[in-house]
Amino acid sequence: MRMKECLSYDDVLLAPQYSDIVSRKEVSLKSDLRPFEFDLPVISSPMDTVTGASMANAMSENGGLGIIHRYCSVDEQAKMIMNSEARVKAAAIGVTGDYHERALAVVAMGAQVLCVDVAHGHHILMKNALQQLRETFGNTVHIMAGNVATLAGINDLADWGADSIRCNIGGGSICSTRVQTGHGLPGLQTLFDCSSTDRDVTIIADGGIRTSGDAVKALAAGADFVMLGSMLAGTIETPGRVIHTTEGKVQKLYRGMASKEAQVDWRGKHSSFEGVATTVPMAGPVTNVLEDIRNGIRSGLSYSGARTIKEFQAKACFVRQTSAGTTESAPHILLR
Ligand code: IMP
Repeated sequence: MRMKECLSYDDVLLAPQYSDIVSRKEVSLKSDLRPFEFDLPVISSPMDTVTGASMANAMSENGGLGIIHRYCSVDEQAKMIMNSEARVKAAAIGVTGDYHERALAVVAMGAQVLCVDVAHGHHILMKNALQQLRETFGNTVHIMAGNVATLAGINDLADWGADSIRCNIGGGSICSTRVQTGHGLPGLQTLFDCSSTDRDVTIIADGGIRTSGDAVKALAAGADFVMLGSMLAGTIETPGRVIHTTEGKVQKLYRGMASKEAQVDWRGKHSSFEGVATTVPMAGPVTNVLEDIRNGIRSGLSYSGARTIKEFQAKACFVRQTSAGTTESAPHILLR
């Protein structure tokens, strides 16, 4: 059997290149989710411990986008959309049950981006949903869809009507899909593969991004945006429950939407689960976290001498590193 070698974030680095960028401010991080343009290529995940109205507003104020999760009644989600003042309003829907009614309700409340949000997007139910949504809305809404892990997946979703596609299966920090099912692809490889598409689609690197350095690698590999869950999960603006530990620490709940806990909360029961629930330390306002991410990404582009994401993608030079390189690549004095 022929087996393909697949790389993930820690397997690679970007070779520094000659730069004439004097200030990080010269670097533009603008990216398009057509017809909308964003100053920061960061989207917050449609999860019930990441994005409600407050996160959507904060993402918008910081130049990014928040997608309001779908784990609530249609009315509750429509109300969240109504209460969000995001320059661009975005809402997640599924592919079965009330998805069409939900789409109509959130669009009526001003949603301009619909995110068709399922674990395995390369699926006949996705095809049916995308075709139905295009019939209903024509080109009046931007349709994001996913998730996919392969070139065949991104091409099919594009052909079925998606404008932007979330790429990566099984790589999220709270995800146990690969453990449960044996399926998935290392996240960075998915981007290398999906970005070779000849379709005119926006690529969203989703899941497994732990640092601004990972975000830089994702953009270099062809992503137009990164989607973040865990990096934003501790911030004040998430709808995640605040937990005071007996040691006096303040934490926030963060959980996979296919975790047992999330399924029981939203469906009153659980089937097989492909996610976990945990707590993360409180991280303050999301604006501060996004500022660090913005600075890290701008700095990343300047190390390759690039002033825009497109220029960066053309210039970026990936190198493979060994496990010794991976150890050397993080602060290592504490290991001595
Ligand atoms: P993170 O940024 O690494 O924490 O990953 C967040 C991403 O994980 C989300 O945007 C989803 O694509 C994905 N995800 C959310 N919930 C689950 C789950 O329960 N199982 C698998 N993947 C999930």
